[in-house]
Amino acid sequence: MPRIAFVNGRYVPHNDACVHIEDRGFQFADGVYEVVACINGKLADERGHLDRLERSLSELSIDMPVTRRSLQFIIREMLRRNRLKNANVYIQVTRGVAKRDFPFPHDVPASIVLTARAFQFDGNVKVQKGGEAITVPDIRWKRRDIKSTGLLAQVLAKQEAAESGAYEAWMVDDEGYITEGSSSNAWIVTKEGKLVTRPASTDILRGVTRTALEKICAELQMKIEERPFTVQEAYDAEEAFNTSAVALVVPITKIDGHVIGSGAPGPVARKLYGEYRAYAAGERGEPVAWVADLQEVA
Ligand code: PDD
Repeated sequence: MPRIAFVNGRYVPHNDACVHIEDRGFQFADGVYEVVACINGKLADERGHLDRLERSLSELSIDMPVTRRSLQFIIREMLRRNRLKNANVYIQVTRGVAKRDFPFPHDVPASIVLTARAFQFDGNVKVQKGGEAITVPDIRWKRRDIKSTGLLAQVLAKQEAAESGAYEAWMVDDEGYITEGSSSNAWIVTKEGKLVTRPASTDILRGVTRTALEKICAELQMKIEERPFTVQEAYDAEEAFNTSAVALVVPITKIDGHVIGSGAPGPVARKLYGEYRAYAAGERGEPVAWVADLQEVA
């Protein structure tokens, strides 16, 4: 069975799927994306991801190319046609195809591409054993709250991580505080047992997974301290972990070679992973809405 992609209204064989050379996504990274997990046939946080997609697009004055209802249908159709129950669905939307010129083109429809990739959530070794992280300078632009397809800084960060045998790169701002992972939000648990993550602002992408965990933590009376933390605090932490739609909650057992806590996945990360899985399975009430709710929008 050939893998199927969705490109501008058509379901096409993945290997033949292509966009025009003058698509602004290709020419300028003038577009945004979302990644939605499907776990055991159930979409995790679909609502939050579509909320954030709409907000990323509106910040860039790009119109949604299809209605939310149609997009929900296309996501399901992609899973059905690719016969996937455990997968990550990628949604890419760009400003469309136009003669190369920097300002926005007029009356050009946005381009939309969906791909789906199998992913085994159960028994994920990274979740069970944890992964290592390195720290790198955060060299990204200043609107990290928008889920832009302009990912060059993250590509370089991940490559550096891969070359040093690490799984993720935690990015560090000019003041020495961690912003986030190259494709995840960064959290620590202090020796005093405090859960710390950076406040949502234009400095980071406000994760949909993180937003759900905020609700879960509130229900469990686990207080989250939203504040920036330094690299040294991360080295000294009892636990460290990442959250994202792809990996959900991944314990970080070493940062820059420093062993974190016991060097094994900690109880807080394990608990939150289990709680998020229950939430994604629909066992913890309604899916949460995603709201920008930023501290300092530029
Ligand atoms: N990345 N921060 C960054 C920079 C990210 O790229 C991501 C997600 C997150 C976590 O957001 P969420 O919980 O909504 O997935 C935070 C996706 C998975 C990716 O680029 O593949």
